[in-house]
Amino acid sequence: MESQITSVQNINEGGALAAVVELHDGHRRVILTRKGGVVRVFLNSCPHTGVRLDWVPGKFMDLDDEFLQCATHGALFELDSGYCVEGPCSGQYLIQLGAKLRDGIVFVDTESEVPRLALVHRKGK
Ligand code: FES
Repeated sequence: MESQITSVQNINEGGALAAVVELHDGHRRVILTRKGGVVRVFLNSCPHTGVRLDWVPGKFMDLDDEFLQCATHGALFELDSGYCVEGPCSGQYLIQLGAKLRDGIVFVDTESEVPRLALVHRKGK
């Protein structure tokens, strides 16, 4: 099963957008990124402590507008892989969900599995 999230036009090239999606086991906050025309969907949950990355809703980019940045301790993540290049969770990844782009609309795979650790983090916040 899949669920429509938004039009690709709502995501700036080289940028990110916040959304909430309904997966098979409940609602999840996600981050949509777009780089080189490719859209990816990540769980909005920092691998360091599990908190959402954005203090100001929808503000994810670092000062250089190059990486996603966690507002809590400043970890930096690549837009296309979710890989943490700097910060306390360096070497770890944001959790990527299955997604497709069809006719300019982004769809998420509602059967995407969220690892148990991410859910434990989430419930603790
Ligand atoms: S909570 Fe994200 S870097 Fe610490």
